Amino acid sequence: MCGIVALIGSREAAPQLLEGLRQLEYRGYDSAGIATVHQPQQGAAALHCLRAEGKLVNLTARFEAQGAPGLCGIGHTRWATHGKPEERNAHPHLDASGELAVVQNGIIENYRSLREQLQASGVLFRSDTDTEVIPHLLAGQLRQLQAKGEPASGALLLQALQQVLPLLQGSYALAVVWAQTPAALVVARRSAPLLIGLGEGEFLCASDTPALAGFTRTILPMEDGEVALLTPLGIELYGADGGRRQRSPSLLSGTEQVVDKRSFRHFMLKEIHEQPETAALWVARHLPEDPGGHLVALPFDEDFYAGVERIEILACGTSRHAAQVGAYLLEQLAGIPANVFYASEFRYSPPPLSAHTLTIGVTQSGETADTLAALAMEQERRSLVADPSFAPRLLGITNRPESSLGRLVPHLLDIGAGIEVGVAATKTFLGQLLAFYGLALAFAERRVGRGPNREQLKTLVVGLRAMPQQLRQLVEEHDRRCAELAHRFESTQDVIFLGRGINYPIALEGALKLKEISYIHAEGYPAGEMKHGPIALLDARVPVVSIAMPGKVFDKVLSNAQEAKARDAQLIGVAPGGKDTEIFDLLLPVPEVDELLSPLLTVIPMQLLSYHIAAHRGLDVDQPRNLAKSVTVE
Ligand code: F6R
Repeated sequence: MCGIVALIGSREAAPQLLEGLRQLEYRGYDSAGIATVHQPQQGAAALHCLRAEGKLVNLTARFEAQGAPGLCGIGHTRWATHGKPEERNAHPHLDASGELAVVQNGIIENYRSLREQLQASGVLFRSDTDTEVIPHLLAGQLRQLQAKGEPASGALLLQALQQVLPLLQGSYALAVVWAQTPAALVVARRSAPLLIGLGEGEFLCASDTPALAGFTRTILPMEDGEVALLTPLGIELYGADGGRRQRSPSLLSGTEQVVDKRSFRHFMLKEIHEQPETAALWVARHLPEDPGGHLVALPFDEDFYAGVERIEILACGTSRHAAQVGAYLLEQLAGIPANVFYASEFRYSPPPLSAHTLTIGVTQSGETADTLAALAMEQERRSLVADPSFAPRLLGITNRPESSLGRLVPHLLDIGAGIEVGVAATKTFLGQLLAFYGLALAFAERRVGRGPNREQLKTLVVGLRAMPQQLRQLVEEHDRRCAELAHRFESTQDVIFLGRGINYPIALEGALKLKEISYIHAEGYPAGEMKHGPIALLDARVPVVSIAMPGKVFDKVLSNAQEAKARDAQLIGVAPGGKDTEIFDLLLPVPEVDELLSPLLTVIPMQLLSYHIAAHRGLDVDQPRNLAKSVTVE
């Protein structure tokens, strides 16, 4: 949520800043800006700030017209939290003299009181943002230090920032440049990601790895509370206590490619088409023909599985839907009671502590603030209990092992789907589902006797191995089919998605995908629950998408679909073809597989139907309004 970049070195900063912002645009795209510091051969250095409302192209056009010289600069692409998406609220924000510029990702929770204090001392604010308090506070601090005779320097800017940060409450990653120090910039983070990339005689700092991937593979992720001074000569890193820190950099993993749409019209479509490959890589990694005496190869030792009696899963949005499928599998396959929580709710109303509990955080970005905070809270409250049976046992499921999640939890399942740029999660959802299949099978095979027997588990493994090929056919077929159908939804305003059992979370996911990219109102319901209220919404204008896969609840779902049809609803079936499914007005056919595996297939028509409806409406599928890919604020 909001992308920030900062560069210092020996080349013009602005083009690289704009390229970095291009790679981060999926984090926010309602406005963007850069500020550079230019030291002319003669005379004083000056700050150049460009900002533009809307997409990055507007800022790029402004840069091409006006330029922004300088070897040092900062940039920002915004997802509005405080203040409307207008140019005056775009970052960077400046102090009154126009010499200091700040970009920030996060929320300064106490900005109101800080703003009031600053206003009382005569400061005029030019935006509605929480961020603008920072340049004003910094300017005041620098004035005080300079009044004592301290000359302008990077060290002075660092000192001022270190004095201002304790005044800020909330989470942030920020970068600052100052016209009086053209060869220095400072950065800081608290509970929001920030990484420094080490180039040759230059340093690039960014809130997410895609901005760094085309620049360098050598990175130094900043830790919570750290502050850094960057000059063309090197980095000085300090902890929140002011102490100097030394740490070796690490290498970006191979999956962090520079993003490219290839020949697809949208990233989302490309990512939907990448799912067979996501599954193939997952099968190759975790279901090898000889996984050493086990059915599944996961990167955990036996202690990880021992004595787990309960599982709690924390997640948001699409990740939460994957978690719901996961909980179903963990209960039905492995016989372990499993509960899924909205991370944002869990934080403030956690359930009573249970013993021998594994806590799983699911977040594709590894940066979702609510999920991270809920996990940290759970770790802390469990650590305070003397009884060792309540000790924290934490696992993260993510697509970004280098993320904050990766640093928070001791065990990690990397879904390895490669970077996902489309704001609507698709291939990472499939990756999360697969991670849960692996986990549930791994627990189940260690608990045979309490659920399915080993032969049944082996059958599921065979079914999973066949998934990449089945997905390949399904994606191709439904891409064509959904493209042909999209025009039928031109005037649709509401859609109901029904599913039961293991496909209920897929109904939720279908509704979420449609809402977020097409702006059509959609609801996902457990099919049996319709008659308890939502059926009142139905008439001929409300299509009902019903997931009806053979298994325990097949007949029940068909009966529920009949109830909708009797109210004139247009019925769309996600189901195998055949006599039973002739009740559907439209069929999105999915091959019959073991019901437990069916979510891996039923989600495909959901994704493609939403995609084509939104694309047919001419909407910005990859960057839907009001959304951001990585939600790093509470
Ligand atoms: C929906 C979507 C969001 C995310 C949610 C959690 O398509 O992408 O609902 O699933 O913001 O994000 P992560 O998984 O990064 O924690």
